[in-house]
Amino acid sequence: MMSSITGTLVGWVPPTRARYDTILKLWQTIMPSFASIQWLTKWNGMGKTSQPSMFNLPGRWAWFFMEIPGFLAVLYCMRTLPAQLGLVALPWQNKLLGGLYVLHYLYRAVAFPFLQPSINDMHILNASSALLFQITNGVCLGSWLGGYGPVTQAQWAGHVSATQFVGGVVIFGLGLAGNYFHDEHLRDIRRRARAKQAKTADGEKKAKRTYEIPQAGLFQYLFYPHYLCEWVEWFGFWMACGWGCAPARAFLVNEIFSMLPRAVNGKAWYRDSFGEEKTKGKKAVLPGIL
Ligand SMILES: NC(=O)c1ccc[n+]([C@@H]2O[C@H](COP(=O)([O-])OP(=O)(O)OC[C@H]3O[C@@H](n4cnc5c(N)ncnc54)[C@H](OP(=O)(O)O)[C@@H]3O)[C@@H](O)[C@H]2O)c1
Repeated sequence: MMSSITGTLVGWVPPTRARYDTILKLWQTIMPSFASIQWLTKWNGMGKTSQPSMFNLPGRWAWFFMEIPGFLAVLYCMRTLPAQLGLVALPWQNKLLGGLYVLHYLYRAVAFPFLQPSINDMHILNASSALLFQITNGVCLGSWLGGYGPVTQAQWAGHVSATQFVGGVVIFGLGLAGNYFHDEHLRDIRRRARAKQAKTADGEKKAKRTYEIPQAGLFQYLFYPHYLCEWVEWFGFWMACGWGCAPARAFLVNEIFSMLPRAVNGKAWYRDSFGEEKTKGKKAVLPGIL
């Protein structure tokens, strides 16, 4: 069994150079079109718009299992590809960037599902498309960091300036902190609801589905500042990888294509749930624009 799995992975994870080029090309073209289908429907089988279904998975475990393969793929590619390419070691820049990716996903995949006081059930379609996103993204970025991008200090020097690299890492850090801060505000709403309703009959159940209009930080202006901060984070990552890094650019573009329709539909959900008066003046995700 194990050897047949390994046999299937050979040449795909990590991919050969030709396969890497093909996967990356498909990733850059198919994913934005696929994600754009969301503009045609208000259906989203997770979070606020999750509906009872026999195809639902428990939210926490869905987040855990769909997000974890991304950073495992990055680690696996960075561990195995250098030897296949005859590289003795990877430059520290590759390791630092791989580390930043893993750091984000230790939060998103491992900590986030269990820090949330509650997460609504998730439809298997949402979970499986996120899983596919994670694996493809992890393979593309992990392969670039593991040997198909710069692999010597001289190549890094010709690829991105030190100022740009440091600036990108700082922007990544600010985006991660902002993403965490706004996620935490949403957690706080649920924690307060839970404390308030703890003493009432079926209070726990009610607290699970409590939604308020969040107000802290950029929530004053936006309904989805945690999404915006995540985009800032991956913009910083792309900047540090160098503007020519196609997998980092594709990651940011594909995140925006996936999350923008969710934020716009989410804004409509807030308006329908809380009324025009209480929700007017706030944008979905881009300050002053959308
Ligand atoms: N969704 C994506 O496509 C996607 C992609 C990449 C990264 N991310 C990142 O993953 C994180 C979570 O994304 P998400 O789409 O699940 O965000 P979300 O819809 O805002 O939900 C986040 C969590 O907060 C709760 N929540 C949401 N709005 C609330 C409110 N008004 N009052 C109280 N609790 C509220 C949700 O509970 P319920 O589950 O009960 O609704 C859920 O546990 C974000 O930081 C985002 O940047 C998301």
